[in-house]
Amino acid sequence: DNYCVIMGGGIGSRFWPFSRKTLPKQFLDFFGTGRSLLQQTFDRFSKVIPAENIFIVTNDIYADLVKEQLPSLNPKQILLEPTRRNTAPCIAWAAYHIRAINANAKIVVAPSDHLILKEGEFLEAINKGLEFVSEFGRLLTLGIKPNRPETGYGYIQVAEKEADNFYKVKTFTEKPELELAKVFVDSGEFYWNSGIFLWSANTIIKAIEDFLPEVAANLGAGAEIYGTPQEKAYINTNFPTCPNVSIDIGIMEKADNVHVALGDFGWSDLGTWGSLYDLSPKDINKNVVLKCQSLLYDSKDNIIALPPDKLAVIEGLEGYLIAESDNVLLICKKDEEHAIRKYVNDAQIKL
Ligand code: GDD
Ligand code: MG
Repeated sequence: DNYCVIMGGGIGSRFWPFSRKTLPKQFLDFFGTGRSLLQQTFDRFSKVIPAENIFIVTNDIYADLVKEQLPSLNPKQILLEPTRRNTAPCIAWAAYHIRAINANAKIVVAPSDHLILKEGEFLEAINKGLEFVSEFGRLLTLGIKPNRPETGYGYIQVAEKEADNFYKVKTFTEKPELELAKVFVDSGEFYWNSGIFLWSANTIIKAIEDFLPEVAANLGAGAEIYGTPQEKAYINTNFPTCPNVSIDIGIMEKADNVHVALGDFGWSDLGTWGSLYDLSPKDINKNVVLKCQSLLYDSKDNIIALPPDKLAVIEGLEGYLIAESDNVLLICKKDEEHAIRKYVNDAQIKL
């Protein structure tokens, strides 16, 4: 009865110019392991979930990339969205689809762009979590102890303990302002939302009906269509009219049956250049050099990510990101990287 849904339809714009609309970060192999983040995610879950029960939900335009990177998948395991509508409609479609296959299904929903360094602990948490959500009415997320007031994450305030390391959730706040994030971290009561969710198909569908009635109306009305040859045509008609909303804002902030499992899995979100910097090996001057060769003089705290055939010769540079991919060269202050979304938008006009 255990299923997994890997979400791989984001464009990873904060990782531009490495992550591009035509080749987003989940399809890239950042650390030269030979497996992309998506492939690593699939490999990891296939250790606890039958491989034929793992679904990839992504955008139509990435169909070939997914097939190429995961050739063992049956095409039926790839759900292709006609438009980008963020994670709530993505998760809703997968839930209706899987419930049609197995009315007792329990589902792990996971992003495709995370690193998990402690795989044993992680897989154990997944197994225990699936057990925990077999009781109807439990929405579960994995929580991570925060070490900085990161504004790109959801924050979970824990309430009373339910069992082992399972807690009831008091409040859920998606991407707070910096000031609030600082208060949260200082209080010691808050954890980061890992973005890895567990629930039964029935429980999440009930939550969609309760909190996202427009999504339920668009995708739930033709429940008998799921699993039939008409499903894709139904989705092509009904998916684009769903509201654009994340599961975090659409459901997790509002539902009162949210639980969190706390654990240390060596989790990190490869969300930004800053997170890649934190995770990468550095030279004695704290420079991270990716892919290319380099000769650095009197330079520190930089990220240099240039194509493999380049030699970067740099003098007197401090705290910068220099990244080149395809036809784009980006040079900006490392701690100004929140502006990358703006650069991407402005660059679209030129490219
Ligand atoms: N299929 C599909 N369709 N996938 C999508 C879509 C979509 O429209 N939009 C995003 N995704 C995928 C991304 O590729 C990624 O793997 C995952 O869904 C999460 O989306 P992000 O856009 O990366 O979310 P986030 O990082 O801003 O925030 C989420 O993750 C944080 C932890 O990494 C939230 O759940 C936060 O609360 C959480 O802290
Ligand atoms: Mg993310």
